[in-house]
Amino acid sequence: MFLGVNIDHVATLRNARGTIYPSPLEAALLAETAGADLITMHLREDRRHIKDDDVFAVKNAISTRLNLEMALTEEMLNNALSVKPDDVCIVPEKRQEITTEGGLDVCANKAMIAEFVQTLTSAGIRVSLFIDPDFEQIQAAYEVNAPVIELHTGAYADARGEQQKDELHRIEQAAAFANQSSLIVNAGHGLNIHNVAPIARIGTIRELNIGHALIAQSIFLGLHKSIEQMKDAIFQARLSATCANTNQILNTQ
Ligand code: PXP
Repeated sequence: MFLGVNIDHVATLRNARGTIYPSPLEAALLAETAGADLITMHLREDRRHIKDDDVFAVKNAISTRLNLEMALTEEMLNNALSVKPDDVCIVPEKRQEITTEGGLDVCANKAMIAEFVQTLTSAGIRVSLFIDPDFEQIQAAYEVNAPVIELHTGAYADARGEQQKDELHRIEQAAAFANQSSLIVNAGHGLNIHNVAPIARIGTIRELNIGHALIAQSIFLGLHKSIEQMKDAIFQARLSATCANTNQILNTQ
């Protein structure tokens, strides 16, 4: 399973004082040395954290992949075409929100999303759609020819007890459904060291994008250790799921 490290909140801290540090570029390079499989950045319309220059600087310096999260707007489409990231993840965006609330409504914006997918794909950029774990949205993502979806794990992360189990079940079902339609399935939002394991155990999920918790934890552990710890938690969860599956197969033979 791949880990995408979202470095937005390094820029949040930098911008809080208008300084040139901490540097998102430095964070991206350090994240790679700690085992990040890709770097994720969200260039928001209001530029509240990542700025245009950050995206170009990171794209030119990293040796893994750049996943650029962006809203469904012409301005962002043009930005993506000039940056040429490896992946673009289209997300819904509202100015007043603290973070990305809910998934993209693909069903309601099919024509425009299909056009974006086609334009970006022709430019050699792989497109992912950030959607809720909802069968209709997944079906719509398939119909607009998106090769990848990212399932929004925010509701799972915020829930507790039985409700969290229900949210996990929704994500498992959604990932299985999308996988049957040959969509690549990623997931992210609100994941941290305490809640990542059940999501990492879902074998049909290919990649997790994690930001806020990693940057927050780096205050106490340092960024390198914070990423290493997350990679290890993901690896252990994945390993235990694989062992459980193997035992189940052996026991039924
Ligand atoms: N995936 C997507 C599409 C996002 O928009 C975000 C937040 O920018 C994340 C993952 C990471 O969420 P978090 O910062 O809560 O880990």
